[in-house]
Amino acid sequence: MIYLEQFSYLLASVLFIIALKMLGSAKTARKGMQYAMFAMALAIVITLIISGIVGPIQIIIGMVVGGLIGGVVAKRIEMTSMPQMVALFNGFGGIASTLVAYSEYLRYSGAETMDVRVTVILSLFIGTVTLTGSLIAYAKLQGVMPGRPIVLPLHQLLNLLLVVGVVIFGIMNVMEPSVQMWAILIIATAAIFGITFVIPIGGADMPVVIALLNSYSGLAASATGFVLSNNVLIIAGALVGASGLILTQLMCDAMNRSLFNVLFGAVGTDDSTGDAGTGGGEQKTVTRYTAEDVAMIMDTVQSVIIVPGYGLAVAQAQHVLHEMGELLTAKGIDVKYAIHPVAGRMPGHMNVLLAEANVPYDVLYEMDDINDDFQNTDVALIIGANDVVNPSARTKKDSPLYGMPILNVDYARTVMFVKRSMGAGFAGEANPLFFDDKTMMVFGDAKAVITGLVKALKEE
Ligand code: TAP
Repeated sequence: MIYLEQFSYLLASVLFIIALKMLGSAKTARKGMQYAMFAMALAIVITLIISGIVGPIQIIIGMVVGGLIGGVVAKRIEMTSMPQMVALFNGFGGIASTLVAYSEYLRYSGAETMDVRVTVILSLFIGTVTLTGSLIAYAKLQGVMPGRPIVLPLHQLLNLLLVVGVVIFGIMNVMEPSVQMWAILIIATAAIFGITFVIPIGGADMPVVIALLNSYSGLAASATGFVLSNNVLIIAGALVGASGLILTQLMCDAMNRSLFNVLFGAVGTDDSTGDAGTGGGEQKTVTRYTAEDVAMIMDTVQSVIIVPGYGLAVAQAQHVLHEMGELLTAKGIDVKYAIHPVAGRMPGHMNVLLAEANVPYDVLYEMDDINDDFQNTDVALIIGANDVVNPSARTKKDSPLYGMPILNVDYARTVMFVKRSMGAGFAGEANPLFFDDKTMMVFGDAKAVITGLVKALKEE
């Protein structure tokens, strides 16, 4: 039996690693998810059967109820609310680790070895921080609490005291494992620390924090794996911990911010979109066009690079955008899509949207692979994107975008923006490109404008 258990764990671990590798490309991501789901189901069933904790009926009931809740929530959630859902799921992972570690602590009631005592403390601490931190991240993203940074008097000192408190209660717990109060104090202090750790971080940086909390939920699971001596939990937790950290670093790199700056800078901006303005109060004008004007211009061009952004997700215009791309291609126009790494509100947001609409992968280009092409392109067609094409990122030193690499849309011969207003993007930074002579502003909801464009292209 022990061989079957260890072999199943080994198989599940290998499948997790293969699945992670497959998630690195949009082409293989779906299959990767299926491998991961199979591996997780295998790990759960084998653990529950072999350990004899519960009978098969309870396993099936538990999996069906849990699977149904997870499935319905995931199905009903709007694509734009995905970061909130991930935040909640991270929080559930955290509380699961805390509960398992606490129940093991009660079960051993002082008879555990030193290494188990230490890993119980780690599980309680990291699991609880993940829970309350994730709940705050959820509340900020959902608008339940203000997205702006909330900084308390002597905030960093308070955080330091809370961590010192956890260390002291942890030492007391190791010395007096039968005194339950120490374990409870660790949980309570960690819960407060999770809150004070996340409230000073602005809404704009919340996706980075979610990636970090995701990593923490993995570390908490891994520590719980040591408590339970369960190899697959140790490995799966370590994989989540490591990949969450890598994702955190990638997102910081894409925004050209250090993790230290995100966590302790208290400079994240509010989630509200301000007015693009003109920067200095001087009156500048923009040129407005309609979908029909765009269709007429498309008759004369040879190359178009489409730049999707957050507004595409809000408008759910991906399907009609694909149809428009096909119509332009049928006219003999070279159509490509340029994907900025932080376009939208979560990693891979644009890739997921366009994959959902069956846009072929071979016309999607990452920023570094397409940025040199804009100068030889007739039209850069920007659909609901703003910050990722804002040239202030190159020049305006006091801009929150300064230093972030952008798509070089301003090098194209004509620039077209499809958006509803002069409103700014996520960073709240004015976009001078709206006022450029070669820029055409097409105001309206992305779905309505692209639908109008498709209609006009078909009528020609
Ligand atoms: P944004 O800069 O947020 O701009 C989106 C634009 O879409 C807005 O200016 C808005 O203008 C327009 N819009 C909204 N709804 C629309 C609709 N229904 N139809 C048409 N347009 C609509 O988006 P972006 O260019 O994708 O940049 C992403 C931003 O999010 C960056 O600042 C990035 O740093 C930040 N961020 C991203 C991530 C990840 S991982 N993706 C993580 C953290 C932060 P109107 O209101 O005028 O329509």
